[in-house]
Amino acid sequence: MTEDKESFPQNFLSDPLRQHKPYIPGEQPSSAERTIKLNTNENPYPPSPSVGDKAAEEIKKLNLYPNPKSNQLRKVIASLHQISMEQVIVGNGSDDLLNLCVRAFADSNRSVGMLDPSYSLYEVLASIQGAQLIRIPFASDDFELPLKKVTNCSANLFFLTSPHAPSGRAYQLELLDSVAGNFNGVLVIDEAYADFAQQNAIPLLAKYPNVIITRTLSKSYSLAGLRVGYAMGNPSVIQVLDRAREVYNLDRIAQAIAQAALEDQKYFKETKQKIIESRIWISDIFAEWGWRMIPSATNFIFCKPLDHSGTGGAQIANSLYSFLSTQGILVRYFPQNKLTESYIRISIGMPEEMSMLVSKIKEWQHQGQLK
Ligand SMILES: Cc1ncc(COP(=O)(O)O)c(C=O)c1O
Repeated sequence: MTEDKESFPQNFLSDPLRQHKPYIPGEQPSSAERTIKLNTNENPYPPSPSVGDKAAEEIKKLNLYPNPKSNQLRKVIASLHQISMEQVIVGNGSDDLLNLCVRAFADSNRSVGMLDPSYSLYEVLASIQGAQLIRIPFASDDFELPLKKVTNCSANLFFLTSPHAPSGRAYQLELLDSVAGNFNGVLVIDEAYADFAQQNAIPLLAKYPNVIITRTLSKSYSLAGLRVGYAMGNPSVIQVLDRAREVYNLDRIAQAIAQAALEDQKYFKETKQKIIESRIWISDIFAEWGWRMIPSATNFIFCKPLDHSGTGGAQIANSLYSFLSTQGILVRYFPQNKLTESYIRISIGMPEEMSMLVSKIKEWQHQGQLK
């Protein structure tokens, strides 16, 4: 090597990676710590009991490569949504599919668009690809979709999070239809939380070839640790994504467990219902306290905490976030954006965890009163 060894490997880095800032995931405490984890929108219920036997069967076959196209799993997904298998691609979490979309439809001449704020991974993926990022801000903290700004933007690929994160707001199908019909590019509708909502964008698949919908088993199927997600779209688009896919992107165990979980719709519906009930329970309490909330179509609540005197704001949100973390309750706080700095995001946990949260918030309010 003729180059100065001190500066290796920096001197050899690709241009995009020189400036790149990686994604920072929510805190995952070590299992030794006793925490109530309400910070990464995981499902508090364990996965369907049917997945254990399937995993055990597959373990015996781990000497053999998995089906490279995850055909059985794709069939199950296709039948669940009444589409064809050629309209489905699966991946290592929906993050894998979002990554494939960027690989396929963005580069230094083809920009990526996103709502600001929304899922920060979009920005990270665009950056690795060396693509310019176009941020479309919201007009106010009701997170209404800025329709014209989205459809007029020059992005080649646009990520629209629906229901929106971190606000939890739902967007009506008619609105998404207008975006898809008027946007001149590839529109990815990230439906990570759609199972908790009343509506989804699946009807748009039959109407618009430029729509890709991504889903995950991490939230509504209690499988965040497994890493399985999928994308649905026009067969021609799915073929393109498939070209960029890693050959064996889903291992045998992941394929088998994901299939078993999707087939156990009874368990899925029961656990989903419990989460929605807890969401209503906690929303009612916050509403009684006069806290502002975005009506949630997800498994989390985005709310503006008020202290004992009824005051809210960035300092108050930060104070509650910090207090809860000292009490072993992890929630998420996004201080970087004006629209989020006065809010915290709370994932829906077990009923007893939500009760504990309520009593700790009361304690925080009481402590403020004594100061
Ligand atoms: C909006 C959104 N999209 C995608 C994901 C990624 O999900 P997965 O676990 O399938 O990669 C998340 C995870 O939190 C998310 O919030």
